[in-house]
Amino acid sequence: MDNSADGAIAQPDTYGRSSLAAVDCRVHELLLRQEQQERTTLKLIASENFASSAVLEANGSIFTNKYAEGYPGARYYAGNEIVDELENLAIERLKTLFGSEHANVQPYSGSPANQAVYRALLSPGDKVMGLPLPEGGHLTHGWAINFSGTDYQRVPYGLDEKTQQIDYDRLRQTAKRERPRLIWVGGTAYPRVFDYASMAEIALEVNSYLVADIAHISGLIAAGAHPNPVRHCDVVSSTSHKSIRGPRGGFILSRKEDRYQALYHTKSKYNLARRIDRAVFPHLQGGPHMNAIAALAVALHEAANPSFQSYGQQTVKNAKALAQALLGRGYGLVTGGTDNHMLILDLRDRPLSGKAYAERLAKAGIITNFNMVPGDPRDPAVTSGIRLGAPAVTSMGMRDVEMLQIAGFIDSVLRRPDDEDLHARVRRDVADLCAAFEVPGISDK
Ligand SMILES: Cc1ncc(COP(=O)(O)O)c(C=O)c1O
Repeated sequence: MDNSADGAIAQPDTYGRSSLAAVDCRVHELLLRQEQQERTTLKLIASENFASSAVLEANGSIFTNKYAEGYPGARYYAGNEIVDELENLAIERLKTLFGSEHANVQPYSGSPANQAVYRALLSPGDKVMGLPLPEGGHLTHGWAINFSGTDYQRVPYGLDEKTQQIDYDRLRQTAKRERPRLIWVGGTAYPRVFDYASMAEIALEVNSYLVADIAHISGLIAAGAHPNPVRHCDVVSSTSHKSIRGPRGGFILSRKEDRYQALYHTKSKYNLARRIDRAVFPHLQGGPHMNAIAALAVALHEAANPSFQSYGQQTVKNAKALAQALLGRGYGLVTGGTDNHMLILDLRDRPLSGKAYAERLAKAGIITNFNMVPGDPRDPAVTSGIRLGAPAVTSMGMRDVEMLQIAGFIDSVLRRPDDEDLHARVRRDVADLCAAFEVPGISDK
């Protein structure tokens, strides 16, 4: 930044930022307000993070303008030589980072990636096993109001009532009885490590595809802070904007060959890798978002740096520290704690709903989301839980000691949900805490 002659501070001249102010002051003003909010509040939403300035720059670059329907070397538009190099770079980085045989970087997001998995592996009406939404699964793993629950037969598998963790024995029995064509392993609100080896054994016993959805934990896996499912699974899907700190988007990893080709896909001349690619384009999508693919390539480059290993390990340490501090203050947590980046407060015995508490926390500058807990008596629109996550505050550089402070903030708001003066005081303390840290992509732009 430099000061102009009249003393006004010029806007930083990063990608289009100063022209945005000149062209559309309304959107620019909203952007500045959002930046201000993110600088001064605690982003504890488990699925959010801070992409670096380099990732944001690539995402906002002129790759936005390019149409590139098809795949590298086989496009339906001319002028894609550079874009071919870019997409191949992202693919190679992804394959190296996760150790996979094949990668597709074109899915627009996590849900379209999962839709492509269904299209590549199954026919409508086939049976699909997944963890139900209230127990931590995702909408796309076979939930009634989602395409996965209307176009396919849903076979839910559940949690052990006592441990609130996946009951692998019961899962095996259900799989043997129902013989699903696909089993999902992964979730959106499951705070424990997944036992991919046991899931792979079960899938093999019943000739089922095993698909891991690592949307939440892909960054932890890249950092070596959670087991890698790739060698156990036929396919692995992910978003690119959560713990892996990339742009909004998705990707799919898979084996090249289909071990069930002779059983389920005799009529197809394509192997598994080709069927995944064809499901993404042309079956479901048109032109890939090359700006997002550029930004993904940058995020993968960052994730391959040893500092990302420390980031992933610290994220888990922070989530555990926050969990311990909240348990110490008498709160119940789903499964009693966490092995990953998230924890779910069980507020079933509290007078207000998860939604009401999340609103109070937001007033105090603590941004969370309300979430179902297993056996939740309340409506999904209000719930009895709050999901908390450490990825974003860890990206700011916070550590265990700040987690203790955050637990104190949360506790004081939840204890006195109607004390607005107290919320205002916590809001100021939260802003003071945040001011001591850099916010990637905001403070350094
Ligand atoms: C496990 C899991 N899979 C898939 C998705 C879908 O991702 P998107 O919201 O990008 O479609 C999510 C999003 O929260 C998720 O948690």
